[in-house]
Amino acid sequence: MKGVILAGGTGTRLGPFTKLLNKHLLPVGHYPMIYWSIEKLGNSGIEDILIITNEKDLNDFKIVLGNGNHLGVNIEYAIQPYAGGISHGLFYAKDFVKEEKFVLLLGDNIFEDALLPYVEKFLKQNEGAKILLKRVHDPERYGIATVDNSTNQITSIIEKPKNPPSNLCVTGIYMYNNDVFHYIDKLKKSERGELEITDINNIYISEKKLTYEILNGWWIDAGTHDSLFRANQLVQKKFNKLGNDKNE
Ligand code: DAU
Repeated sequence: MKGVILAGGTGTRLGPFTKLLNKHLLPVGHYPMIYWSIEKLGNSGIEDILIITNEKDLNDFKIVLGNGNHLGVNIEYAIQPYAGGISHGLFYAKDFVKEEKFVLLLGDNIFEDALLPYVEKFLKQNEGAKILLKRVHDPERYGIATVDNSTNQITSIIEKPKNPPSNLCVTGIYMYNNDVFHYIDKLKKSERGELEITDINNIYISEKKLTYEILNGWWIDAGTHDSLFRANQLVQKKFNKLGNDKNE
């Protein structure tokens, strides 16, 4: 399997630092934020990784990460020409992924669980996609899933709901088969002018091909100053140094 990390976007909520530096290169613990996504993929046996970012930031990533060999992985890069949404960014992974199944990580998601058990389950899944959920206290900030407990199926996902139907957040950890690229072609821009990953996941739901798991450990979207600070605290406490995670 291959891995794709999205590391574009504008990072406006982390200004003024993001005027100078891409959000995913800001420090979390002893390393730039994006190291933690790379480590999660590498530790689950996914060595071929594509990083998708903005043209203006590409060289900074190459300076910090190079070809990834010092981290035990092979990194390639693609450019998302403008911040058109998560699905728009994912489109640029098409040639890298080819026909394979793959894991997509949002580069600002920092989490405790090892990916391997989820990846193994997805590899056994014949078709479709799998997403990972986490219960949160601030569901208005995220994509929120409704689950039918009698069938154990997700029935819908709403992006940043004003009246959240549950507190089950869709984390930025997604596993897809190749159908995702056909679905991206069908998407229309949302009200906020983006191609939404939630719309992709809702297509998989309508095909009854979306499975889910709930993360056991902590999970953070480090896209704001408060959550970035919290991510630093959690990473310092739990991992500190790359490779020191006793759970992996
Ligand atoms: O963190 C989980 C949440 O991520 C999900 O619950 C939501 O359903 C999903 O839409 C997303 O919400 P955010 O509002 O947090 O997305 P954000 O715009 O902050 O971007 C998330 C990541 O994707 C971030 O690492 C930057 C990257 N990105 C984003 C956009 C819009 C790109 O690489 N390109 C883009 O065009």
